[in-house]
Amino acid sequence: MSQGRRALITGVTGQDGAYLAQLLLGKGYEVYGTFRRSSSPNFWRLHVLDIATDIQLVPIDLSDASSLLEAIRIAQPDELYNLAAQSFVGTSFETPLSTAEVSGLSTARLVEMVRHLKPDTRFYQASTSEMFGSNSEVPQSETSEMVPMSPYAAAKLYAHGITRMYREAYGLHASAGILFNHESPLRGLEFVTRKISNAVAKIKVGVTDSLHLGNLEARRDWGYAPEYVEAMWLMLQQDEPADYVIATGESHSVREFTEAAFALVDLDPEQYLRHDERFTRPLDVPLLMGDATRARETLGWQHATSFQKLVEVMVRADLERWQSWQAGKTFPWDAPFHTDEMRVITRTLRV
Ligand code: NAP
Ligand code: GDD
Repeated sequence: MSQGRRALITGVTGQDGAYLAQLLLGKGYEVYGTFRRSSSPNFWRLHVLDIATDIQLVPIDLSDASSLLEAIRIAQPDELYNLAAQSFVGTSFETPLSTAEVSGLSTARLVEMVRHLKPDTRFYQASTSEMFGSNSEVPQSETSEMVPMSPYAAAKLYAHGITRMYREAYGLHASAGILFNHESPLRGLEFVTRKISNAVAKIKVGVTDSLHLGNLEARRDWGYAPEYVEAMWLMLQQDEPADYVIATGESHSVREFTEAAFALVDLDPEQYLRHDERFTRPLDVPLLMGDATRARETLGWQHATSFQKLVEVMVRADLERWQSWQAGKTFPWDAPFHTDEMRVITRTLRV
């Protein structure tokens, strides 16, 4: 059905970009993916999924309009998935201006270019549950109030509004997925779930002896990333563009995730878990829990992986990696070369 269709994914080197590329290749798309030129490009996820040589790679920087223009000209996409962003909430407090540029303004650049260069492109914007912020009335749906609590959320709310506005003003087929947290063994190590699964595995194999975390009481609606990229694709297959919440409808605390992870390897978290102010934020969204009714009724989408299963998939994957690494095997992954967060000094957050 999708044979011969062309898709452009911004941020193909990220967790979602890699899974989405895999999904679209499987459906017969010609996939163009953007990456960021840097001294050490970051293709490990594409290698894990064994798709690195199947994607047409296009270098861009989101803050550079001409690079975006070139990417659209090269790819001539039928579908454009805008996933690239400065996506770490913690960092957005340290770099609020570049986060606004990269995670907010660049969406305006992209939809402007789509409007002028190829207005029949179907556009997906990676919006986020973080936009609900301090609105803790749950479950949160497409119509719930959005009260951002981070520079990242404020930037994404701007991008969300621009996407809706271009849909209404210019008739673009532009949809925004308001995705709640979704995780996997390909998740970046700075995010709490992978930080936990990686640390638990390291403790189990004797490489480290502690896990330092900030706010343990924050609650998130955590799902499994490969299922969430399927929802992105479904949105662009609809006759009418719209915004959709994608979520499991369940909420768990960081503490619950940590306890479940330690339990899987028969260790007592009390022995290893340390509270560390460095990992708390000036503001932190207390509670996210989504209502994905619209997605279920219109897209036929619903999550399949339970919270417990998600923790298990992540902990088992990291345990296997650390055991293989200790056995001298080489394979694509990120952890051995990841900077120890305890060695990183950021500015004082509470001045
Ligand atoms: P991710 O793993 O952090 O990937 C982000 C991607 O953006 C990477 O490919 C990164 O490139 C690229 N990027 C960052 N800054 C860039 C720049 N200045 N120019 C060009 N590319 C840049 O994020 P993810 O988890 O896959 O999430 C995908 C999108 O969904 C993001 O927009 C995120 O904000 C949003 N989102 C995620 C979740 C979630 O729970 N995962 C939930 C809601 C919304 P490098 O590889 O070079 O860093
Ligand atoms: N990262 C991190 N590190 N978070 C910690 C830590 C820690 O050491 N200790 C406690 N937390 C808490 C955070 O304060 C937050 O309340 C929660 O764990 C989840 O943090 P993250 O995993 O960093 O994710 P996030 O919810 O802030 O943002 C993610 O989900 C959003 C969707 O709601 C990212 O993927 C965003 O890009 C995405 O939009």
